[in-house]
Amino acid sequence: MTTQPTATTDASSGSGSETLTVTDNRTGVSYELPIAEGTIRATDLRQIKVNDDDFGLMTYDPAFMNTASCRSAVTYLDGDKGVLRYRGYPIEQLADKSSFLEVSYLLVHGELPTSAELDSWVDEITHHTFVHDNVRTFMQGFRYDAHPMGMLQSSVGMLSTFYPEAKDITDEASNHLQIVRLIAKMPTLGAFAYRHITGKPYVYPNNELSYSENFLAMLFTTGVPKYTPDPRIVKALDVLFILHADHEQNCSTSAVRSVGSSQVDPYSAVAAGVSALYGPLHGGANEAVLQMLRRIEKVENIPAFIEGVKGGKERLMGFGHRVYKNFDPRATIIKKACDDVFEVTGVNPLLAIAVELEKIALQDEYFVKRKLYPNVDFYSGLIYEALGMPPEMFTVLFAIGRTPGWVAQWKELIGDKDQKISRPRQIYIGSDERDYVAIGSR
Ligand code: CMC
Repeated sequence: MTTQPTATTDASSGSGSETLTVTDNRTGVSYELPIAEGTIRATDLRQIKVNDDDFGLMTYDPAFMNTASCRSAVTYLDGDKGVLRYRGYPIEQLADKSSFLEVSYLLVHGELPTSAELDSWVDEITHHTFVHDNVRTFMQGFRYDAHPMGMLQSSVGMLSTFYPEAKDITDEASNHLQIVRLIAKMPTLGAFAYRHITGKPYVYPNNELSYSENFLAMLFTTGVPKYTPDPRIVKALDVLFILHADHEQNCSTSAVRSVGSSQVDPYSAVAAGVSALYGPLHGGANEAVLQMLRRIEKVENIPAFIEGVKGGKERLMGFGHRVYKNFDPRATIIKKACDDVFEVTGVNPLLAIAVELEKIALQDEYFVKRKLYPNVDFYSGLIYEALGMPPEMFTVLFAIGRTPGWVAQWKELIGDKDQKISRPRQIYIGSDERDYVAIGSR
């Protein structure tokens, strides 16, 4: 990609169509900047100066509203059209035809596996689900009411101390092993957290079960030698994991990339992703949706609640998205999964409130004007609750699903020659230099 800009004094001299001509009205100088892949390089602006001492022009973009931080081949998302594809494959097809571990392989390796490759990948993941016993004792040290996302975040981070070789991120074989371990151990850590807050003994992984079956067994086995979940529940959970598996440069993935750019081990980078996901504007929204539906309590209370949202008192959780401005394709698939799960578990009474809330919001000018639609979190919590999960566990499920995306993006980052340590600029707005004043004189 050409990035060498040239300064001219005549704005009309730009000839190629793949360039941007900018005139600095402070100096009258024009600059021709290359455009590649629909972007200009922010560093190309640095040559725009009023004098030699000037630092050069910067862009101000809090929350990265219009800044591409990387070139990525993992996930394609068109927010206006409601399109989501992993490595080119539409999410609808993957949710319908694939499995979570196959999708994980696709995200990490870039291609769908052959039958032999898939068998070997499933075998590898299955045989790395156990954790060192000290992880169990570490988790037992948490308070009885610890939030499972806090437990997950700390326990993922602590894995780095068990695998010190993970620090060498130039070793491809080791990187592969850490990726496998992360995808494999996440359900074990999540299930241990659940057993802890529910006061039950931890259940170890069962290598005879599929990924999603094993997770359910670690959560719900109680006093029986064999726990057999309904296959429709297993399928629904697998689909939910697929829907959450990646979402390009969202807050937690950016956190993984940003922390990973310091060349720290992948466990520490993924722990940063778990922390970011914990927030109510990100993965924590599914837990917040359930709390909101409970607070609304009955359909008759919806109009007053909606007025409160429009008056700025609170947000309609599970609605709105930075990128999707038409519909969230994941929400459409989740609605269908809801039906499948409720067929087994019976309908969650909060569903009626959610459906009515969606109906009213989709007709209301406030939401229509702002292009606010249900997102992935609006219905996922209802399914998780129907599965017997307490709301604090919802974001843990999101984290398990998102792990292949985090590690695929981390792998891409460390192999990307364009990348360096993440280090944004700032506009300093604090005091000018001033002298220290002794405490007694303040
Ligand atoms: N309820 C009410 N108003 C909203 C909502 C909402 N859920 N979301 C956005 N708005 C309003 C917002 O007040 C603003 O109005 P105005 O222009 O009058 O100030 C306008 O819509 C634009 O909102 P924004 O906050 O500038 O949009 P954003 O792109 O920065 O935020 C969001 C995106 C997802 C954080 C936001 O829509 C939100 O807080 N939603 C609720 C939390 C949620 O469901 N999060 C899960 C997101 S999907 C899963 C994931 O990625 O984790």
